[in-house]
Amino acid sequence: MADTLGDVLAAAAARLRRAGVETARLDVRLLAGHVLGLDAAAMLTHPERPLSAAEAAAVEALVARRERREPVARILGSREFYGLPFVLAAETLEPRPDSETVVEAALEALAGIAAPRVLDLGTGTGCLLLAVLASRPDARGVGIDAAAGAVAAAAANAAALGLAERAAFRQGDWNGADWTRDLGGPFDLVLSNPPYIPAAELAVLQPEVRDFDPRLALDGGADGLAPYRRLAPALPGLLVPGGIAAFEVGAGQAAAVSALFSGAELTDVRIFSDLGGVERCVRARRAGKPEVSS
Ligand SMILES: C[S@@+](CC[C@H](N)C(=O)[O-])C[C@H]1O[C@@H](n2cnc3c(N)ncnc32)[C@H](O)[C@@H]1O
Repeated sequence: MADTLGDVLAAAAARLRRAGVETARLDVRLLAGHVLGLDAAAMLTHPERPLSAAEAAAVEALVARRERREPVARILGSREFYGLPFVLAAETLEPRPDSETVVEAALEALAGIAAPRVLDLGTGTGCLLLAVLASRPDARGVGIDAAAGAVAAAAANAAALGLAERAAFRQGDWNGADWTRDLGGPFDLVLSNPPYIPAAELAVLQPEVRDFDPRLALDGGADGLAPYRRLAPALPGLLVPGGIAAFEVGAGQAAAVSALFSGAELTDVRIFSDLGGVERCVRARRAGKPEVSS
């Protein structure tokens, strides 16, 4: 007799719970729904639906990946950020909802600046830059990343979102010499969510992060602040007078990053918290008169 949907979901959820997955029932529904083309409501209301052998095998293949702690978004290949879909690749970080704090802080500061030019440092999927461009149809931008696979993924995401004409992506390493040359600046806004995990903490991260997000996207050096030390002094040269820097920070890093920005002679340094109450974004401004739209 064929397995029913209810039986398959219950067995798979029990398996994921044993593997330490806290959101086992939800994850199983997302994975099975993807295979079967059903939404959560349909799966809950029709537990008696029989599964063909092929359907059961396809669900099993995805559940086995989740059992090895691969994140659901990586299994499904895409992740929503700021209401937009982003395709993931092996070399991209999975965008996090906390990073939407950076987008909100940046958009608020851009109000009144016409046709802003935006730079995104360590662009990954392109999520920060593309979310800003989607909200500001008069904006254009450039995203750089050291990882070639991230640059390719960001360009594909820009095309899929209809933003390719306003977004350029290229490979670039901020640890290199002359790395700010040829970026096409100066910019009205510099965004970044740099790697900020202290190196010693990488080994104790959740398996979903440790084993599946790329190390280049996570490792912030001994205290997690190495990229900020490198990037802060470059900001005045990258920004127009009055231009804005909006950077994501890790928990407990906001004060140190604020000090680095002040030390780089940026002004109006402000900290923004995410929905969980964690200080998540440091925003600052290059001194001078911003361009004001007429
Ligand atoms: C924390 S991830 C952020 C990705 C994306 N902006 C987001 O918010 O989801 C940091 C990104 O910085 C890139 N990166 C790390 N070191 C870099 C470097 N030296 N130069 C340029 N990009 C770098 C990584 O490849 C990764 O895509």
